[in-house]
This record gives sequence, structure tokens and C-alpha cells, in this order.
Amino acid sequence: MAASPDVTAVYDVERIRADFPLLRHAGRGFAYLDNAATTQKPQAVLDALTGFYTRDCANIHRSVHKLGQRATDAYEAARETVRRFLNAESEREIVFVRGATEGINLVAQCFSRSQLRAGDEVLVTGLEHHSNIVPWQLACEATGARLRVAPINDRGEVDPEAFAQALGPRTRIAAFAHISNALGTVNPVAEMTALAHAAGAAVLIDGAQSAPHTPVDVRALDCDFYVFSGHKVYGPTGIGALYGKAAWLEKLPPWQGGGDMISSVTFEKTTYNQLPYKFEAGTPNIADAIALGAALDYVEGLGRDRIAAHEQDLLAYATGQLQAIDGLRLIGTARAKAGVLSFVMPGVHPHDVGTVLDEAGVAVRAGHHCAQPVMDRFGIPATTRASLGLYNTRADIDLLIKGLRQVKEIFG
Ligand code: ALA
Repeated sequence: MAASPDVTAVYDVERIRADFPLLRHAGRGFAYLDNAATTQKPQAVLDALTGFYTRDCANIHRSVHKLGQRATDAYEAARETVRRFLNAESEREIVFVRGATEGINLVAQCFSRSQLRAGDEVLVTGLEHHSNIVPWQLACEATGARLRVAPINDRGEVDPEAFAQALGPRTRIAAFAHISNALGTVNPVAEMTALAHAAGAAVLIDGAQSAPHTPVDVRALDCDFYVFSGHKVYGPTGIGALYGKAAWLEKLPPWQGGGDMISSVTFEKTTYNQLPYKFEAGTPNIADAIALGAALDYVEGLGRDRIAAHEQDLLAYATGQLQAIDGLRLIGTARAKAGVLSFVMPGVHPHDVGTVLDEAGVAVRAGHHCAQPVMDRFGIPATTRASLGLYNTRADIDLLIKGLRQVKEIFG
């Protein structure tokens, strides 16, 4: 998608940067380009956290006092914000979890206990990160189901035809990333969802890298489950959300047992609470859920279309600059791509690249990006990865390129 000049013209990145205390303090000589790992937090998120602890701190859903009511209201308002952010039909379909990883584990464990039998299949793709592989391997080990993998091509794209071929009559669920953390590939998730549904499989979309970068409409996508992490969408660590269609959440058994997820308990029999509380055992992460709501409000205030246009403009600029560096090889050249630039340089280990860049004031990630099968697919152990966020600028990219020229000087 090309950036529209009209859209980027009204996107005041300097004003936006001023909302982020860490960026303000770091100043101009620092480029934070590790947004796929985690993002910096705007003041509104920090204010929501301190606001809760200084004014509204109480447990929720169980207090008769006013403080507890305020805390409950703020927590449930954050759930409504998540619902709106994803365009889910009902807040009953929004479960607060620790992050995308926990959301996937929840669904995989519930499937393992109630849906998967020996000989069934779970389908993932060749570009998943470990969070969308290992939970399914555990479910398959426990049930005798088989994990199948739809391959990716040399650009790092999932071929919908190959995906369709990997679906079979025993596929119970297909789980795939919306956007790859290691390559930036944007999957054709609506098409993949329709293919999986046609084969009778449920669909989980891992939105860890899409929630921060692109509008998401779970009803338009028609996925059964969608997960994302708060910390990658400018919110706190330790909080995220699972969307599940109400019919699925009703059908699945609870994941964890404890307070709040019950309706009544005797030693003989326990009945479970209504949605979504059935999946929220124990005191939840109240403060961070509220601050996640503030983060999503912040992102929505900027406009996800405008953020996407800004990041696409930067991606195009950065891609051109990187390609001009002699010998540098981009890993992940999908036609539909988000702001992730993974690359290798001949004769230099990505960790060394990352270390030199750090000295040059540029924070990137170097390694396998929790996606070892992706590295294997490209025959490399690791890449250096620059990943973009809503506050990055061309000056950040220029700093990256300057640092890479230093890498070339040092390592020849
Ligand atoms: N999944 C995160 C990343 O890509 C941690 O860096």
C-alpha cells in the first residue's frame, strides 16, 4: 500500500514523539527501531497506571465499597475499548490475558481438552513465531493430533493454494499470524480464514504484529479467535486480549480454575461464570488492562489508517536505503509487507551488527526473533531486524543507515 501524501501530511510525527517520555529524554541521537519486540509508552498510558494506583486501587467484581466499584467500572470500560478496537460484536467475546502467547495457549489447551482427538490435525504456517507453534505442539502431544505446516515461498509469503492443500477433513483449527514478526509479511488472512472455514476448521489469528500497525475488524475477517499483546500496541507488558466468537467461548471448557470464573462451588460440583469471566480466573491484571484501554484510545486517536500510511511511507524509504548498501540482503520481501526490515550482511554476524548499531544510537533486534523455523527456511541462523513504530521518522532510518556504514567500515 503506497502512502497517500494527504494522509501523511496531517500526521504530525514530531508532536506525536513529544507524547513519549522515553523518546523525549533520549533525544535526537537515538533511534528506537525495535518495535516488533516492544513499543515505547505514551504519557497517557503512564497516567492511566499511576491514576489507578493513586485514585482507584481496589479489587474488582467483588467489593461493596465505592472504590471497588470505580475499579470495576474502569476495568470493564477497558474491555469495551478492546471490543471497539477489534470491532467484536460483544464484550462477552473479549478475555483479558497476559498477551498473545497466553491467548494462544488458552485456545490450544481448551482445544486439547475438548476438540482434538488422535488423528486430528492442527494447521500452522511456515512463518509463525514460537508462540504460535509450541502451544499447538503441546496440544498435539497431549491428544495424538498432528501439526501440519503450510509452506512459505522465497519472498516469505504463504501461498494460499499451498495453504488450501494443507487443509484436510481432519483439520480442527488453523492458526496463523496476521503479520510475521521476523519478515513483516502481511498474510491474506480473510482469504485464509474462508479457506479454513470451507474445510470445516476453526481459525485463530495471531495479531501480535497486526494490532499495532493496521486496522483490525474481527467480524469482517470472520476469524473464530484473535489474540494480541498490549505491550506491542503502546500499552503495558503483562496484558493483552483474546477475542473469541461467543459460540466458541461457550463451547470450550474453562482453562484455569479459581475465583471469579465460577458461578457456584461445592465440593461435589462447580458451575462456571458467564462469558467472559469463565476464562478470567483469579484477580486479573486490573491496572494494566485499564492502561491498555488508554493505549488503544491513544492509537485510535491518531487513526490506524494514518499510522499504517506513515509506516508504509517509512518502510518504502528504509527499503530503498537498505538496498543501496552493497552486499546487504533483505530477508522477507513479501509484496504485502508491514514495517519490519530483516537483513543479513555478508561476513558479519547479526549480533555484531546489532552491537555496532547500538553504539551508533540505534536499537534493533538481532537473533532468530523467536522464529527459528523461519531462519531455517532461509538457511540462516539469525538476522538483524529494524522494526517501525508510529513515532519513527526518516531521521531514524538515516541513523540506521549511518550505523550500517560504520559496520561495513569496521568489518570490511
Ligand atoms: N515476538 C517479539 C519479537 O518479535 C518478542 O521481537
